[in-house]
Amino acid sequence: MLVTERQTQAEEIKALAEKYEKNRSSLMPILQAIQAKYSHISDFAMQEIARHLDIHPVEIYGVISFYAFLRTEQTGKFVIRLCRTLSCDMAGKARVARQLESELGIVFGETTSDGHFTLEYANCLGLCDQGPAMLVNDTAFTGVTPEKVHEIIKGCKRTFSVYAQEGLKHA
Ligand code: FES
Repeated sequence: MLVTERQTQAEEIKALAEKYEKNRSSLMPILQAIQAKYSHISDFAMQEIARHLDIHPVEIYGVISFYAFLRTEQTGKFVIRLCRTLSCDMAGKARVARQLESELGIVFGETTSDGHFTLEYANCLGLCDQGPAMLVNDTAFTGVTPEKVHEIIKGCKRTFSVYAQEGLKHA
């Protein structure tokens, strides 16, 4: 992380700590805010939060490890979570998983080198009667087939080309 990025993040954490109370009860809202903005909570952020709330960084790490939606590592812009629990497994999860890996050129647990996609397994998403089910960030997809995977990935990739074209217009 660059020094300027650290400074920016340190100021943001300070502002969050002032917005909420400087105690343990503020930990979760601050973690959620940092996670939402940076898609992960870095070691540096943990130390800053610990300093402002006067708690040990290990305690913060423990909280992050407990909640699956909080992360210590950078993820792709799109985080794809495929359900691996029994109903989805029986409904064809393996074929969907193979297609995802082949479309993205990574295996589960990895992020593409361009930082666009992260592939993960999830446990039951509560959509068992409509499996295979998966989440792309906060959007749920049900009855997923290899063909649907292709369309979903294509849709995600289209958003990057729109951003790129917008960037060119403003360059
Ligand atoms: S088993 Fe996949 S959503 Fe429940």
